[in-house]
Amino acid sequence: MKRKVAVLPGDGIGKEVMEGTMKVLSAVADRFGHTFEFHKGRIGGDAIDQDGMPLPDETLRICKESDAALLGAVGGPKWESLPGHLRPERGLLGIRKELGLFANLRPVTAFDSLLHASPLKPDRIKGVDMLIVRELTGGLYFGTPSERRNGGDEVVDTLHYTRSEIERIVEQGFEAASKRRQKLTSVDKANVLESSRMWREVVEEKAKAYPDVEVEHMLVDAAAMKMVQNPSHFDVIVTENLFGDILSDEASMITGSLGMLPSASLRSDGFGMYEPVHGSAPDIAGKNLANPLAMILSGAMMLKYSFEMHDEAEAIEKAVKEVLDAGYYTSDLANGSTKALGTDAMIKKVIYQLEEAGATA
Ligand code: NAD
Ligand code: IPM
Ligand code: MN
Repeated sequence: MKRKVAVLPGDGIGKEVMEGTMKVLSAVADRFGHTFEFHKGRIGGDAIDQDGMPLPDETLRICKESDAALLGAVGGPKWESLPGHLRPERGLLGIRKELGLFANLRPVTAFDSLLHASPLKPDRIKGVDMLIVRELTGGLYFGTPSERRNGGDEVVDTLHYTRSEIERIVEQGFEAASKRRQKLTSVDKANVLESSRMWREVVEEKAKAYPDVEVEHMLVDAAAMKMVQNPSHFDVIVTENLFGDILSDEASMITGSLGMLPSASLRSDGFGMYEPVHGSAPDIAGKNLANPLAMILSGAMMLKYSFEMHDEAEAIEKAVKEVLDAGYYTSDLANGSTKALGTDAMIKKVIYQLEEAGATA
């Protein structure tokens, strides 16, 4: 099969992890007889520097002409003093909105071989396998107006949702739960926010169509506590944009590193942009220290969700697991007893594992 993939490396470690992911995907293409055509586009600080704006039209065009998109990360100290509408992050928010990618799926898997890397006790995290379904194109991130008033002494950010925006993401939560362990935790702040009270109404309404899914409501502060107290409690979490952002970084510690969390940003017709949960990590950028697995696993999600290439996606996931099981880690996951691999060496290990499996298949 031939597929066109828009590739938006962005800034900092985004560039480093994207290079490796393209190589991994090419190795998959060779092994399974596919062709992936990569079309590069600029976004974030990279686009600000070269095009004067964080999301050039050309980048959107490349995405719209592709079957799926991969995004590395955006942002960095160089662009931090720019006004909000010109910052690199605006490019990321803009592309999510323009492409209608309202459903962000963030799986959190505790690998047995990485239990040592988590700050949480191994018995708490062993076997954890949860999915955070985060609303991605509404809420506080897209409120209008977001501005300073009164000579700069007053600020406004608005949290806005329509019922249909809530309905479509809650449906994604139920669909995911019905294909997994039939448990959905809806996370909100219904004791304070009107938007959360509407969110609860929608969840109750939608629950009628999924009688086999056990539903619970949890306030976001309690959910943050439960996430470290007993993460096995969760199967699927569905929540609004900002809560999902914060909870997913917290959840990354179950895996040991932010560098382990992939994600899929989807709309209903199957088009998706696949992006690691982490950012551009300015503190380690350019040092060959970044863990590329979140980006590589995002590539596997692309194969699964946009291309229906399930064996291919599993081949990547298996190769990653085998590399970790063999005791190879990047420094964010290393336990001191083994020498940490750099980004490039980790990518080579994954590709070697993929090719080995292909040769013996
Ligand atoms: P960050 O996710 O970039 O980094 C947080 C910490 O995690 C850092 O110590 C970093 O070194 C570490 N880390 C992150 N990814 C890693 C990886 N793959 N391997 C090893 N260690 C990793 O968050 P931040 O430092 O708060 O933000 C830096 C910039 O990234 C900001 O401009 C922010 O807006 C942006 N950001 C972008 C995205 C995105 O593009 N999707 C996501 C989050 C943050
Ligand atoms: C993420 C990031 C982004 C978000 C930022 C960079 C706009 O933190 O993808 O989690 O908050 O959505
Ligand atoms: Mn985030």
